[in-house]
Amino acid sequence: MHHTTENQQRERVRIHVHDTADDASRALAREIAALIRDRAAAGRPAVLGLATGSTPVRLYRELIRMHREEGLGFGNVVTFNLDEYYGLPRTHAESYWRFMHEQLFDHIDIPPAAIHIPDGTVPRATVFDWCRDYERRIREAGGIDLQILGIGRTGHIGFNEPGSGPDSRTRLVTLDSMTRRDAARDFLGEAGVPRHAITMGVGSILDARRIVLLAWGGAKARVIAEAAEKPPSETLPASFLQQHPDTLFLIDRPAASELTRVKLPWLVGPVGWTPALSRRAVAWLSRHVQKPVLKLLDDDYTEHGMADLLTEQGPAYMLNIRIFNELQHTITGWPGGKPGADDTHRPERAAPHPKRVLVLSPEPSDATHGMGGTLRRLVEQGHQVTIACQTSGNLGVPDDEAATLADFMIELDDAGLRETGPGSGAALARMIKQQLDTKAAFDGDPPALRRFKGVLRREEERAAARACGVPRDRACFLDLPFYEQGRYRQFRTTAADVDALTSLLRKLEPHQIFATGDADDPSSVPALCFDVLRQALARTRDDAWRRDCRVWLYRGPAHDWDIAGIDMAVPMSPMELSAKIHSIRHHKSQRGQQTDETWRQAGHHDQAVARAYDEFGLANYEAIEPFRRWSE
Ligand code: GLP
Repeated sequence: MHHTTENQQRERVRIHVHDTADDASRALAREIAALIRDRAAAGRPAVLGLATGSTPVRLYRELIRMHREEGLGFGNVVTFNLDEYYGLPRTHAESYWRFMHEQLFDHIDIPPAAIHIPDGTVPRATVFDWCRDYERRIREAGGIDLQILGIGRTGHIGFNEPGSGPDSRTRLVTLDSMTRRDAARDFLGEAGVPRHAITMGVGSILDARRIVLLAWGGAKARVIAEAAEKPPSETLPASFLQQHPDTLFLIDRPAASELTRVKLPWLVGPVGWTPALSRRAVAWLSRHVQKPVLKLLDDDYTEHGMADLLTEQGPAYMLNIRIFNELQHTITGWPGGKPGADDTHRPERAAPHPKRVLVLSPEPSDATHGMGGTLRRLVEQGHQVTIACQTSGNLGVPDDEAATLADFMIELDDAGLRETGPGSGAALARMIKQQLDTKAAFDGDPPALRRFKGVLRREEERAAARACGVPRDRACFLDLPFYEQGRYRQFRTTAADVDALTSLLRKLEPHQIFATGDADDPSSVPALCFDVLRQALARTRDDAWRRDCRVWLYRGPAHDWDIAGIDMAVPMSPMELSAKIHSIRHHKSQRGQQTDETWRQAGHHDQAVARAYDEFGLANYEAIEPFRRWSE
């Protein structure tokens, strides 16, 4: 057991929680730099086990910075990478070989001979020997001093999927379907994701002298809590790290959110009962004992670690009513405020009316998905609504969708429908077709093709917005540069992104801003877009319009929000829900994408919120779109 304080008693491994992924990455980079320098001083190599994925990208950036600015040398460093997709040549855009060179090795002075990465092109017949040889080379290098790990949502480390035991060694493995789904974005659809990989085994990883597992974002929270708090088991290979004498989980706050000490702190020790925490605890208790809030008894509280809460704020009857009222007041059919009404207990203020409303969509489709019903209400209730897509979303358009559109344009020309015009559209389409035919699969698209795909998503978004009542000239597109110049998992925002959003804010001077504050994955497009918004808001803090501007967060796809965290709940009738789903379907190019599954379930999440309100003993609606109020 590694717990150091009472509230960590459920944790079977050492965990450090940092405010942000950047803070945590910097701390680890400092540790690595110290290791490298100590070894260099002793004339010995430092052997590092390295990982891929979006998680370690920040760490590698910081190491590169230390190399450039602080003279950190890598001449005595030897590296072994965990894994590689089987069947991918080094040159493939998604190979881990290429990833490691682009993200780290090309920017530091490590000797090429000191780099070891599993080879995805070894013929099937010799894979076994090759893997044994990889292990031998690790031993000959003196073993791994520090092994860096990410974690997959299946609980895999490297590519050790569920079923991998603590004795497994470097070998060829089959990828889990959830892992392949998570990689679908990189390979433009699940069909392109390799089925096999070579990975160091759990046993090979446990041989390292020290292990640091990194995880950022709410998407990893559940698997982190299970790996840390459940007994070791093959169903969750990362849990075997508990058996290692020197393992650290280095995580950010959102990734810590499912740990018992964070999620249910009253179960592991005394807590300070803030209003927000009481609300969370009561919502949890009602769910846990499956009773509506007004039927909770004193015994229910005392039997579940909340005796203090009763002493401070009870009896149950009083506490129940108070929380009931708080949640009741989150429900409103007037997301822009109800003109002329008493707004003391309403989530949004009545005046001014109408309001200037800015709805930010990280990629086209995010806003209609998260708040399509509310959007329509805002328009119907007379507000001046502008939708702004922060990025073009062109990376999400598969080639065959672009090809269909180009073919359509060429057909129009062949059918003589362009006789009256100069025909430049068809000439463009022919160029696009040619680019599609000659590009290697998974290589970056040439700029014209990216523009073309971006325009396709624009039109889909305009159609979806129109279905929600927002006219064509009220949809605008920022095409933020970080996205146009980047690729998934490796985006990086700059001042130019903040400039673009700042000038839009200053032009519109909105009374309400709706955005996704998605903490699911800090390297995702929604998270970066939110970061750009945060910076733009910081810059405009002293503008006069800001005194009368509220920021609301809508839910990203595939999330269930705890009702205790909802500040505004906008109900939808069955008709309104189907209208919303209809509008989402305009995003046709997204069929077959990773997001497709979440879209097919469009509405289920809104229905789940409605159910939660019902079970809590409030109103019984068909569906509810939830919002949180945000402030700096
Ligand atoms: C892949 C890699 C793992 C990595 C995981 C998580 O499966 N083989 O080593 O930990 O992805 O990826 P990310 O860091 O992008 O969340």
